[in-house]
Amino acid sequence: MGLGGGTARLLFLLTFFTSGIHLILSDTDPSDAAALQSLKRQWQNTPPSWGQSHDPCGAPWEGVTCSNSRITALGLSTMSLKGKLGGDIGGLTELRSLDLSFNTNLTGSLTPRLGDLLKLNILILAGCGFSGSIPDELGNLAELSFLALNSNNFSGGIPPSLGKLSKLYWLDLADNQLTGPIPISKNTTPGLDLLLNAKHLLFDGNQLEGNIPSTLGLVQTLEVLRLDRNALSGKVPINLNNLSSLNELNLAHNKLIGPLPNLTKLDALNYVDLSNNSFFSSEAPDWFSTLPSLTTLVIEHGSLQGTLPSKVFSFPQIQQVLLRNNALNGSFNMGDSISTQLQLVDLQNNQISSVTLTADYTNTLILVGNPVCTALSDTNYCQLQQQSTKPYSTSLANCGSKICPPEQKLSPQSCECAYPYEGTLYFRGPSFRELSNVNMFHSLEMSLWGKLGLTPGSVFLQNPFFNVDDYLQVQVALFPPTDKYFNRSEIQSIGFDLTNQTYKPPKEFWTLLFYCLALPLSRFFQRKFFEHWCCCWDRDWLRNVQKKAIGLSKPFASWAPSGKDSGGVPQLKGARWFSYEELKRCTYNFTESNEIGSGGYGKVYRGILSDGQVVAIKTSSARINAGRARVQD
Ligand SMILES: *[C@@H]1O[C@H](CO)[C@@H](O)[C@H](O)[C@H]1NC(C)=O
Ligand SMILES: *[C@@H]1O[C@H](CO)[C@@H](O)[C@H](O)[C@H]1NC(C)=O
Ligand SMILES: *[C@@H]1O[C@H](CO)[C@@H](O)[C@H](O)[C@H]1NC(C)=O
Ligand SMILES: *[C@@H]1O[C@H](CO)[C@@H](O)[C@H](O)[C@H]1NC(C)=O
Ligand SMILES: *[C@@H]1O[C@H](CO)[C@@H](O)[C@H](O)[C@H]1NC(C)=O
Ligand SMILES: *[C@@H]1O[C@H](CO)[C@@H](O)[C@H](O)[C@H]1NC(C)=O
Ligand SMILES: *[C@@H]1O[C@H](CO)[C@@H](O)[C@H](O)[C@H]1NC(C)=O
Ligand SMILES: *[C@@H]1O[C@H](CO)[C@@H](O)[C@H](O)[C@H]1NC(C)=O
Ligand SMILES: *[C@@H]1O[C@H](CO)[C@@H](O)[C@H](O)[C@H]1NC(C)=O
Repeated sequence: MGLGGGTARLLFLLTFFTSGIHLILSDTDPSDAAALQSLKRQWQNTPPSWGQSHDPCGAPWEGVTCSNSRITALGLSTMSLKGKLGGDIGGLTELRSLDLSFNTNLTGSLTPRLGDLLKLNILILAGCGFSGSIPDELGNLAELSFLALNSNNFSGGIPPSLGKLSKLYWLDLADNQLTGPIPISKNTTPGLDLLLNAKHLLFDGNQLEGNIPSTLGLVQTLEVLRLDRNALSGKVPINLNNLSSLNELNLAHNKLIGPLPNLTKLDALNYVDLSNNSFFSSEAPDWFSTLPSLTTLVIEHGSLQGTLPSKVFSFPQIQQVLLRNNALNGSFNMGDSISTQLQLVDLQNNQISSVTLTADYTNTLILVGNPVCTALSDTNYCQLQQQSTKPYSTSLANCGSKICPPEQKLSPQSCECAYPYEGTLYFRGPSFRELSNVNMFHSLEMSLWGKLGLTPGSVFLQNPFFNVDDYLQVQVALFPPTDKYFNRSEIQSIGFDLTNQTYKPPKEFWTLLFYCLALPLSRFFQRKFFEHWCCCWDRDWLRNVQKKAIGLSKPFASWAPSGKDSGGVPQLKGARWFSYEELKRCTYNFTESNEIGSGGYGKVYRGILSDGQVVAIKTSSARINAGRARVQD
């Protein structure tokens, strides 16, 4: 048995007074300190404070949280850490929370000694470079409630032992290279059907095979089930229809066969995607007309035929109906009680031969590739925007043929070369599909320079397109008002306006919900903190949030429990997760939109307030990602 912290301290004091030797008083349990020192030796780019004292708890090391001289939390998200996660981590036996997410240079396999951290409640290793198999020993972590291993390079199967984690409510294994079946319990072997507290099972973006186990229907707590982008086959089990709390079901891009799943009993369902499978041809299933909470219905490249019932357009929260590349035929009628929330109906490449339209619906309807378009070819509904015209790009016509040095760009307003602040804006759910629409993009430019306090005309937009996730992506460059560079305070103020929702794009682009902003922080902060474009604001802010919530720079961690059960778990209603790849380098600052946050919009995103409070945010929409700027210091 080791000495308690207090005893250890007392001994140090005694030694100090009796021998006069100048020992450093330490607030840290010696074995914890030794384990951490060992980790420090294995990692590059640990925070500067790690070198300044030998007392991780007393003269605190950034990212280290202690209680009674024991290290209870280690939060080192997005620190550019480089190295391996050695077995010494297993020495931190009082650890409740371990978050090393978004350190892409943390590589190698996971040490089985993670299984020694028996008090661990939260384990977040998302967005690192870990590979090899997921150790069975993680199944020993009986207290674990939150496990995020997504966006690494894990291979091999999902260990059945994870089924022993009976307190788990969040299991995210998405975007790895996992193979084999979803393990289910058999006799004495555990399986994921035993996770009777699970709310989120996120396995998308792997290479999982075999059937969707019918016993998953026993996990009645399930709210989000993402199995998309795998190689799952066979029929969808009937009893998924028992998952009465399910909000989001995504089975897209698998090899599923049989009838379309029967979802009639899923009253809470609001996002469903069954695209790109091999389901039998069928008419629109009953549930198209019965799911009252539906916000988004996606079955692209499916085998729907017959007429589409108009009921689906009248669900009060319905926003998008995306059914391109099916075999819907006959006449199409949206009915006469169309939801005011409805933004987009995409029926491209079906067999629809006639259509009844109502003047009530002025948002987007796409019928391109249907027989009806031979008669209606000159209507908006029948024109493919992207192909017919060139996507919008801010005009530089008045700048002649001037060429800028590398890394500099022409400011459209002054025609001078400068280092812009560059990035990508992502809009989820814009109300238009037309990418050559000059007025629309002009209004975006104006709102950017206007609301960000830039010189009129100093915004350059180019290459708008709808990406695979159906977000509108637009490259943006913001130009400094006077100099060649933005200065530090200007960059901070732009960043702040973007984060705190001062900036809102024009209505057609929908509300700015979140953005990630990347700055060359090594230059920006003149410190070796972030080597790379990453999406973080500043150190104090990071530290603040990190102290109060568990981790920050990833959506999943933001949901780490602050209390028990629903105290820390926002009740999701119709979440459409942003693809992890897009998010993983980013830090968020979600705030609830003043403008439309109160509506019954259905969509809810994860977010975190500056005081560390976890919040759920309604509606969706845009962000800036991978932005960068040169800053003059
Ligand atoms: C990871 O390490 C490589 C090689 O040293 C380096 O080029 C890269 O910038 C590092 N990435 C991050 C995110 O630190
Ligand atoms: C992870 O796997 C991908 C795809 O196989 C590969 O391109 C990448 O280099 C791997 N990364 C690491 C850190 O091993
Ligand atoms: C689940 O669904 C199956 C098949 O539809 C049904 O027989 C069973 O009773 C349901 N179980 C629960 C707990 O609702
Ligand atoms: C779908 O499930 C419901 C409830 O279990 C059932 O009443 C209905 O008949 C099923 N529909 C089809 C087409 O099987
Ligand atoms: C979906 O299926 C269609 C038709 O099989 C294919 O063209 C398309 O590439 C698939 N999409 C994805 C993302 O796999
Ligand atoms: C629609 O397609 C189905 C199946 O191919 C066919 O039986 C039906 O006659 C078609 N209806 C119309 C109106 O073309
Ligand atoms: C940065 O630019 C702003 C506005 O252009 C100016 O008011 C401020 O003084 C500048 N700050 C520094 C440190 O140069
Ligand atoms: C993030 O948003 C909160 C409002 O919820 C605001 O107080 C805080 O300052 C923002 N952080 C940054 C870095 O802009
Ligand atoms: C964001 O910050 C700006 C500038 O400090 C302030 O005027 C504005 O009220 C803030 N907005 C929100 C939503 O907090």
